[in-house]
Amino acid sequence: MAIKELTVFVVFSWIVCTTGHEFFSSIEKVAQLFEEEKDLLESFRFYIDAEEKNVERMKSVLLVLQLLTFSDPEYTEKTLRDPVAAYKLLRRVRIEWLTIVEYTQLSLYEKYQTLLEFAEIPQPEDVDGAASELIRLQEFYKLYPHNITKETSLSADQAYHIGLVAYDEGKFQHAFLWFLYSLDRLTEYSTTTEEELLHYLSSSAYHFGSLPVAIYFKQRLLNLDPTNDEVKVELSLYKHLRFQKTSNPDIFTLNTTSNNSYEALCRGEIDERTSKRQRALSCRYSTGGGNPRLMYAPVKEEVEWDEPRIIRYHDIISDREIEILKNISRPQLSRSETRQGISNYRGSQSVFLEEDHTVLVRISQNIADITGLSMESAESLHVQNYGIGGRFGPHYDAWDDENGRIATFLIYMSDVEIGGATVFPEVGVALKPKKGSAVFWYNLLKNGELDWESQHAGCPVLMGNKWVATKWIHEFGQEFRRPCSLSDWE
Ligand SMILES: *[C@@H]1O[C@H](CO)[C@@H](O)[C@H](O)[C@H]1NC(C)=O
Ligand SMILES: *[C@@H]1O[C@H](CO)[C@@H](O)[C@H](O)[C@H]1NC(C)=O
Ligand SMILES: *[C@@H]1O[C@H](CO)[C@@H](O)[C@H](O)[C@H]1NC(C)=O
Repeated sequence: MAIKELTVFVVFSWIVCTTGHEFFSSIEKVAQLFEEEKDLLESFRFYIDAEEKNVERMKSVLLVLQLLTFSDPEYTEKTLRDPVAAYKLLRRVRIEWLTIVEYTQLSLYEKYQTLLEFAEIPQPEDVDGAASELIRLQEFYKLYPHNITKETSLSADQAYHIGLVAYDEGKFQHAFLWFLYSLDRLTEYSTTTEEELLHYLSSSAYHFGSLPVAIYFKQRLLNLDPTNDEVKVELSLYKHLRFQKTSNPDIFTLNTTSNNSYEALCRGEIDERTSKRQRALSCRYSTGGGNPRLMYAPVKEEVEWDEPRIIRYHDIISDREIEILKNISRPQLSRSETRQGISNYRGSQSVFLEEDHTVLVRISQNIADITGLSMESAESLHVQNYGIGGRFGPHYDAWDDENGRIATFLIYMSDVEIGGATVFPEVGVALKPKKGSAVFWYNLLKNGELDWESQHAGCPVLMGNKWVATKWIHEFGQEFRRPCSLSDWE
């Protein structure tokens, strides 16, 4: 047990929500940008039209003013001796100034500025955050730039930006591969220069430990700029170092060994459900132990795992109900946190639905009927939308608490094309999201102790928009429904 406690990075899913306009941690929020973009360009067009009209008006005012000013040829001389002329000049300049001020103030610049301030625009952290998540996805699923850009290719400048983010994070192999991708796509329209790329290619290869590659790109850089003394010095340093080094990792090839069982499960490398065990598991219609509400509409139940017991219920929520839940949740979503605060351990936005909506009441009653547990001390339904590469690292739902989360009922509100499975690394089970289905398991043993095998995680979403709704059921109120046990292992 002690070893397990040390090796397992325990993050309890105590969620507190904060408000904010972050985009990359929710795919739904990212999609909202389409509307935002349309509005932005539309108002820019209005602004230009209005300014054009204004410029026309100002030009004609200028003409009139010029006519008045230069109509009198003896102007200066007269003014010096004739006080009436002097008065006229003073007054005219004053009026001209007022007119110019009036017309230039008709500019819509300020009004437009206000509009820009209120627009929800991705911040630099959003753009860098999205790049960072792409790199994390690559690390996790062992993907090259050409794998991840199969459907949507990137320009040299975009690839250079991702490379720089990887470089800043010390992920030199991925940085190198992105710089290489960028170099391949360099055109005369790119802002990125070949020099910059060669510099970073050499530098990331050096940091990764691939000196021959670092030397190769440094040499190419020197060929472009043969008089650059700094590059010459670095090149000779690299050549010198090369003879002292023994290892020379291959920077072009990703290491495909998984670091842990969470990763391996998500990548579909392990699934302990070998055919023998799979055959023992069953699928049947259940009436929740004779619950009258389920007698005429039994629920389709599938045992996904026997020990600990993980059960999948099919078709427990309709597409329409899902649509309603999403509609209620969308405007309320905010970045999900772990007990340690906001962390890239958890890339999603979420909300606890406190409303009295009939759909929420029905879902709650349905969960009570199916599981036989009381919803008396359960939490409000928690709806979650994952972001770019959204994941939830290995964690326990229950924590050291008098009235702990005895069980979890997790409803899938979407399918996910690739990735996004719910995995149990301690037992080796991977559950694929299936829209309208739900999975259920106990986090606590019958004696009230934490079940170490209930550790689970949400795999990074590689492709798709993952929505889930969770009902956390607590201990209080279950005394007569799930009899406790004094045994150590139940
Ligand atoms: C990525 O590309 C490599 C090499 O082209 C290929 O072997 C690998 O299967 C691809 N991976 C995925 C997940 O598509
Ligand atoms: C690949 O990664 C694994 C796990 O991190 C490590 O043990 C192994 O030595 C690495 N292999 C190579 C060739 O770098
Ligand atoms: C959800 O919201 C959309 C957009 O406002 C609306 O068109 C749709 O009818 C709503 N769906 C339900 C089931 O309420």
